[in-house]
Amino acid sequence: MNFKNRDILSTRDLTREEIDYILNTAEKFDKNPQEFSDLLKGRILALVFYEPSTRTRISFETAMKKLGGEVISLGAVEASSIAKGENLSDTIRIVSSYADAIVLRHPKDGASKLAAEVSPVPVINGGDGAGHHPTQTLLDLYTMRKENKLEGVRIALVGDLKYGRTVHSLIYALTFYSAKITLVAPEELSMPRDIIEDIKRIGGDIEETSDLKEVIPEVDVLYMTRIQKERFPDPNEYRKVAGIYRLTPELLESAKEDMIIMHPLPRVDEIDPRVDETPQAKYFEQAKNGIPVRMAILSLVMGAL
Ligand code: NCD
Repeated sequence: MNFKNRDILSTRDLTREEIDYILNTAEKFDKNPQEFSDLLKGRILALVFYEPSTRTRISFETAMKKLGGEVISLGAVEASSIAKGENLSDTIRIVSSYADAIVLRHPKDGASKLAAEVSPVPVINGGDGAGHHPTQTLLDLYTMRKENKLEGVRIALVGDLKYGRTVHSLIYALTFYSAKITLVAPEELSMPRDIIEDIKRIGGDIEETSDLKEVIPEVDVLYMTRIQKERFPDPNEYRKVAGIYRLTPELLESAKEDMIIMHPLPRVDEIDPRVDETPQAKYFEQAKNGIPVRMAILSLVMGAL
């Protein structure tokens, strides 16, 4: 399978075979990280982040370093020429002449596609507005597979399904694994209709509800998300839905014993910290899985495997 020089922009561009191949590669790195410590020696990864990030940024940096490569970073937007009015294509044109691959995070949907059009080196979408976040999906799938909860899984996607890019990417990939998907959101934050129609067209199994309590006993995976405050055009609209779901140990009493709770993080108040102590909580491990998965993505797009 050839990933060399490929952009990773959306899960919609990947086949199930390609996803499985990436996950299998990640598993190799997970089991034997030492064996690959020189794989990307002499290569440079550029991090171009126009929005805040902790996990995506730091885990790509860690992944690159574990493979013996170097990382350059645009740093804070205010400290770069973007503050002088430089446009995205010019920034990407320049950065792509310095680096072997670029991870881009940007507040606008479609920004990574635009970047990929001007970049001769692979562009990895690290989140574009309310659009997509494919590398998060790959680590989500990796986590689910490791927990034996992927093929035919019953999963609830909970929270901000309108603006949340992680769920927009995840829902496409889940259909490859015959998942039974329940969307849990208030009307105002429901999954965009075009995505739902797309998923139904490709044979996806989806139901919608706004009642979290009712779905908890039914599912194998509870995928919680943060209400994306920064994407609301009107702060009053945010206030109406803020804190709408809060997962507590009490709510979990009706859950299956082997159910798992995932969250791309950061969380705000949608998961009570007391839940962290339950055996179902897998979100910190999920974040940790970002390392081998991103090691796999980097090695594949840089053609090192
Ligand atoms: C997510 C994002 O940036 O979309 N964070 C992440 O990459 N783990 C989720 C979020 O910000 O809510």
